[in-house]
Amino acid sequence: MFEILKRQEMADGTVVLNEISAPLIAKKAKPGQFVILKANETGERIPLTMAEADPKKGIITIIYQIVGKSTALFKSLQVGDKFQDIIGPLGKPTHLEKMGTVVCVGGGTGVAVMHPITRGLKEVGNNVIAIIGARTKDLLILEDKMAAASHELHVCTDDGSYGHHGFVTDVLKEVLEKEDVKLVVGIGPVPMMKFVCKVTEQFKVKTLVSLNAIMVDGTGMCGCCRVSVGGKTQFACVDGPEFDGHDVDFEELMQRLQAYTAEEAAAYGKYKGECKLA
Ligand SMILES: Cc1cc2nc3c(=O)[nH]c(=O)nc-3n(C[C@H](O)[C@H](O)[C@H](O)COP(=O)(O)OP(=O)(O)OC[C@H]3O[C@@H](n4cnc5c(N)ncnc54)[C@H](O)[C@@H]3O)c2cc1C
Ligand code: FES
Repeated sequence: MFEILKRQEMADGTVVLNEISAPLIAKKAKPGQFVILKANETGERIPLTMAEADPKKGIITIIYQIVGKSTALFKSLQVGDKFQDIIGPLGKPTHLEKMGTVVCVGGGTGVAVMHPITRGLKEVGNNVIAIIGARTKDLLILEDKMAAASHELHVCTDDGSYGHHGFVTDVLKEVLEKEDVKLVVGIGPVPMMKFVCKVTEQFKVKTLVSLNAIMVDGTGMCGCCRVSVGGKTQFACVDGPEFDGHDVDFEELMQRLQAYTAEEAAAYGKYKGECKLA
């Protein structure tokens, strides 16, 4: 059992941070890796990236957006409550290497996934430019941490309520026009990652994206998380979750993510009814 040691609501309560006691996982975790969690015996297996891992304290941090039944159930857990099962670390860690100037683009909850990668790229000696965005100011997360993890931070909101008025891709284009960028990492909603790749294609800059395909076992056996990359089938859980964004079939990924929309809405509706949630 994995005890929740800290619980913090972020982004108007639509996002929750949990620090969890998981010493064996914390000891091995690297930037870019994820865990699969189950709240209880009958709970769904949910993949979430580790936003932090402290091997000395034996603590991992997850930051998740409330989008359906299982994330709403996770939100209901309080300090002292326990997740029944957590497996990990899963997936390949981010390849961290000194390259020169790199740009880290994070959107929405993707900023939480991006934070340890940004810090890792800075620690190995890169000049790191970070660009983070959200729909509106209140939904922006981890601005302070991303400022500390990078050399230069640009903040964008779609509605102009804070920072640059517009999309992260507008600022990315300006940066690519000025700087000699060796690598772009883009993590966020699938349409955002797709448009980041469209921009970087014009500048011929290698781009990594982290794919949030639907997963079940997380160990390469069920085939649920298959994605097409460079015309080949890959499993996001063991071959990824990071891939060369210029090779990813984003249309197929978006279609597969919508495969269970009706069932997910029904399960969330039933859960909200049972728990009398808004
Ligand atoms: C490797 C990986 C890392 C992730 N890291 C984070 C993170 O750090 N923070 C965060 O907020 N979200 C993250 N996600 C997405 C997160 O797993 C889903 O939001 C969550 O599973 C939704 O479950 P639900 O029951 O609340 O919603 P549902 O109503 O069941 O689904 C809502 C949407 O979430 C996706 N989803 C549903 N079930 C799964 C599943 N088993 N596996 C993957 N996606 C699913 C689908 O796109 C679906 O349309 C990650 C996904 C992957 C694959
Ligand atoms: S989640 Fe089953 S193969 Fe990747």
